Amino acid sequence: MNDGIRVTKTTSPKPKPKDSTLAFGTEFTDHMFLMDYRDDKGWYDARIGPYGPLTLDPATAVLHYAQSMFEGLKAFRGTDGEIRLFRPDKHVQRLNNTAKRLCIPAIDPEVVLESWTTLVDLDRDWVPRAVGTSLYVRPTIIASEPFLGVRPSKSYLYFVILSPVGAYYAEGMNPVKILVDAKYVRAVPGGLGEAKASANYAASLYPQEDAKHGGFTQVLYLDGVHRKYIEEVGTMNLMLRIGDEVITPPLAGSILPGVTRDSVLALLREWGIPASERQVSIDEIVEAAGKGTLEEVFGTGTAAVISPVGELFYKDQHIVVNEGRIGELTQRLYDAIVAVQYGTAPDTRGWTVVV
Ligand code: COI
Repeated sequence: MNDGIRVTKTTSPKPKPKDSTLAFGTEFTDHMFLMDYRDDKGWYDARIGPYGPLTLDPATAVLHYAQSMFEGLKAFRGTDGEIRLFRPDKHVQRLNNTAKRLCIPAIDPEVVLESWTTLVDLDRDWVPRAVGTSLYVRPTIIASEPFLGVRPSKSYLYFVILSPVGAYYAEGMNPVKILVDAKYVRAVPGGLGEAKASANYAASLYPQEDAKHGGFTQVLYLDGVHRKYIEEVGTMNLMLRIGDEVITPPLAGSILPGVTRDSVLALLREWGIPASERQVSIDEIVEAAGKGTLEEVFGTGTAAVISPVGELFYKDQHIVVNEGRIGELTQRLYDAIVAVQYGTAPDTRGWTVVV
């Protein structure tokens, strides 16, 4: 299938950043993958070229009606020197689920996977080495037809860019403070919440800025109907340990089906730790904190990996979790996932693809 991708290499490779300076999403590699779609041709012209700007007509549909989506996955340089993509099959599946919800034509899963492996292989020298760093793969699809009517575009652009990254949050593995938002919601049943639609992230900016001004790193959204049950953080899914039970909200249509969320649930089940996908109200959390049974809270996400939460703030209550320290289970999960990603533990579940 490799012969299907036309490759034009850059003639001016960029200097690579030092691992120690990596933040999230600020540096980009030498190449990008592109592929077009037209109603009369299907997906065509898979190509890799030098990383650079896109030229768009000002009438391009995506600029007006946000028919746009993305994915996010990571490639890791193992201690054995191998480069591994983490659960790319899950990301391919979610890419096509999102595409369906946004009336974007599906892409052959093999072609998607190949776009990632071929690009990462070409820019493999950009995969950083330090533990905690990785190469973030950002596949994106946009409606590319210049047309102002509100209907699905008749043409699309799929592109993939790569970014060497460090920790997503400035706090790194230190617990973050999260505002439980009583005012704004992220999604409602029947909306876009379970799709990785760019519009979901645009909608999160205002509440997030609000939270930032209050000294919080992120926002935890409550459900849009009852304003009672916790949903997700927007950049990560949330898990809580109350007593011996680990709880995370169910995939009921308004939250993103996170790949790290799925991996954590699989590990917990293997370890025999009770894990429930069930609704959990903010009142239940406040009550557990009062009784001293709210043991741990952490977020899960591709960018965030496993991110400990040290404090939740709801209305006027500061809910401090585990005295603001990383919980034991949070650390164990982080270590187990990172070990598979960097190849220091055997991949017994078929989660990684070597590039
Ligand atoms: C990810 O974790 O990959 C995300 O897409 C979250 C965020 C960086 C937008």
